[in-house]
Amino acid sequence: MTTPTLASVADALRDQVVAWRRHLHRHPELSFQEHETARFVEETVRSFGGLEVSRPTATSVLARLITGRPGPTLAFRADMDALPIHEETSHDFGSTTPGVMHACGHDGHTAVILGVARILTEQRDQLNGELRFIFQHAEEVLPGGAQAMVDAGVMDGVDLIVGQHVWATLEHGQVGFRAGALMAAPDTFFVTVRGRGGHAAKPNETIDPIPVAAQIVMALQTIVSRVVDPIEPAVLSVTQFHAGTTHNVIPEEAKLVGTVRTFDKALRARIPKDMERIIKGITEAHGAEYEFAWQDGYRPVINDASVTGRVEAVARKIFGDERVVTLQPNMGGEDFSAFLEKAPGTFFYTGGGNVARGIVHPHHHPKFDIDESSLDLSLRLFVAVAHDVLGSAPAAR
Ligand code: NI
Repeated sequence: MTTPTLASVADALRDQVVAWRRHLHRHPELSFQEHETARFVEETVRSFGGLEVSRPTATSVLARLITGRPGPTLAFRADMDALPIHEETSHDFGSTTPGVMHACGHDGHTAVILGVARILTEQRDQLNGELRFIFQHAEEVLPGGAQAMVDAGVMDGVDLIVGQHVWATLEHGQVGFRAGALMAAPDTFFVTVRGRGGHAAKPNETIDPIPVAAQIVMALQTIVSRVVDPIEPAVLSVTQFHAGTTHNVIPEEAKLVGTVRTFDKALRARIPKDMERIIKGITEAHGAEYEFAWQDGYRPVINDASVTGRVEAVARKIFGDERVVTLQPNMGGEDFSAFLEKAPGTFFYTGGGNVARGIVHPHHHPKFDIDESSLDLSLRLFVAVAHDVLGSAPAAR
């Protein structure tokens, strides 16, 4: 399955992958603005030779390793964008751009897939079919870069796809898998309650939108607690409540914003209808009016059972059972789901935490960090998966 040379090749490249990661970490760029990052990635993959390199969108890169021998097409995806956070680590490779930081580990994802592309380019004689290295922009901001890359054709002809996220709450040295639902659909809602403003001393002459909106906030909580099947995961959080300007004026309107997170398609379609029924009923009961808007977030990440099983089996073989864990689903979102709509695949987590070394801060935190040994682990796994799927005697798809 794996080649005897894998360990030594990965060893040789370990420092290079760390150096790439640190370079990217020093120079983070926000979603849809990854111009220098994409230029760096493009130049680096071009320097390997033998890859067909293109720019599906302004700030994304696709590199294809076409062996010329029949076989399946396997895609690996890394995301490349950073976050609007001011870095507070003490690294000598900390962000040089104030207010922008790789605080989710996407610098590591990109460095790993560069390393994988480098190794597999050298090992192309041992592979069949095609490998695609997808360097995606804008995972962090809607509408996400993944769908634009899919629309540009990067998934055309792809038989299976594998992606990963370094994961802060998983200890370094571990790798986690889950068949089925892993990450939720994170949708956003906006509610405006419109009443009639006036003097706070004469509420009888107004329709005060604040108690109406407050009732809506409380009543919306009954959707998850009373409407959704208790064994089906769902979150409904009102995260903003804006109304009023001063102490003696009843405002005209109140605005609510929040998020709904689900895995199930039917439930995802149903919740906004339940919400609107409640909002309509409460506002009508008080003579107020409402506007309700819904913005679809990413689709849920649902891992294909057979691809997940296959990648997990490779991980058990090269790392041993003790390093492989089964993940619990979480209510975070990921636009890797856009690729999964086009081909079966799996998204796994690589442990990036190290409690003993104080690497404990969560994703999107100004002190977020990864244990860089995680880079080596995912590098080896991706390379081994490529040999498993595209090796000289590829199994049936
Ligand atoms: Ni992320």
